[in-house]
Amino acid sequence: MRVLVTGATGFVGQRLVAALRAETTHDVTVLVRDAESYEPPDGITVVEGDVLEPGRFEDALADVDVAYYLIHAMGSSGDFAERDRRAARNFERAASDAGTGRVIYLSGLGNDGDSLSSHLASRREVESILREGTADVTVLRAAIIVGDGSASFRLVRQLATRLPVMITPRWVDTDCQPIAIDDVIAYCLAVLERPETAGETYEIGGPDVLTYREMLLETAEIETGRPPLIVPVPVLSPRLSAHWVGLVTDVPREVASPLIEGVRNRVVVTDDRLEGLVDFEPTPFDVAVRRAVGLASDGPDAVDRAGTTAPPKRGEK
Ligand SMILES: NC(=O)c1ccc[n+]([C@@H]2O[C@H](COP(=O)([O-])OP(=O)(O)OC[C@H]3O[C@@H](n4cnc5c(N)ncnc54)[C@H](OP(=O)(O)O)[C@@H]3O)[C@@H](O)[C@H]2O)c1
Repeated sequence: MRVLVTGATGFVGQRLVAALRAETTHDVTVLVRDAESYEPPDGITVVEGDVLEPGRFEDALADVDVAYYLIHAMGSSGDFAERDRRAARNFERAASDAGTGRVIYLSGLGNDGDSLSSHLASRREVESILREGTADVTVLRAAIIVGDGSASFRLVRQLATRLPVMITPRWVDTDCQPIAIDDVIAYCLAVLERPETAGETYEIGGPDVLTYREMLLETAEIETGRPPLIVPVPVLSPRLSAHWVGLVTDVPREVASPLIEGVRNRVVVTDDRLEGLVDFEPTPFDVAVRRAVGLASDGPDAVDRAGTTAPPKRGEK
């Protein structure tokens, strides 16, 4: 099969490209905005293009059977939802014109019945736009992905380790089901090999459901051995929290704000059908954190293993 990875320079995309090379025999094309600064693994076809510029990226879809859509505009200036809407629309049209059979999209976890944050609402909108095309779309919905380079995990890590005392909004007791980057990559590869997952939406998560408070405390315990004192207060608005997070962490405000707004939504897997289709041991949160911060006895997460050693044992039933 010819497989296209968009967002190949990103946190997930880099690891996915390496895993496709290390663990499959598929032909891999990547779409990047700046080919000069991209160092591809051996044997990859690189196409330069920007999905916000129709007419300048479509070559990447030539003869592609399955495309991973790993693009998002959070972090760029302006209205990220508007850019993500346009990007998805352009990509859906190009994939339909090219006759791409399948698209696999990594989206955000969250219950559609809740009032979704602007970040999660935008993920849902992108899902719908991609589904309007002729390709069969597989959606994987994940909460915080734990790994070195994940913007959401960077927020957790820096908050956990930089302050001895934290005043937080009440969201600190919202449940979340984080997932290790290695497990996300395993699911991404599994759905590629299973045609019956085409057109389906799956929720993916790690084995542990934790509140944000528990995540912060465990991350701090692992990294510094000094968990912060966390004091939730009823009056802190998401806007003020984002401002405060901006002062404490180096995560850009354009990225931190929508993520902080999203923590009011409970993000826990309610449909684990995909677990029944794959056969690997999900990574516990503490192991994922140790890998992400470089303290695991089995080495760091897939970014450094990529292309050198195989990720942890995984397979399909
Ligand atoms: N990280 C998490 O915790 C998490 C959790 C749940 C779901 N997800 C989803 O996983 C997907 C990937 O996330 P990530 O963390 O890997 O993001 P990331 O590291 O920020 O990567 C985003 C990628 O999108 C590319 N991109 C942005 N605008 C583009 C455009 N106009 N044309 C072409 N490429 C463009 C970027 O390329 P440049 O290098 O050129 O900027 C980059 O490769 C997203 O859909 C995200 O919502 C992530």
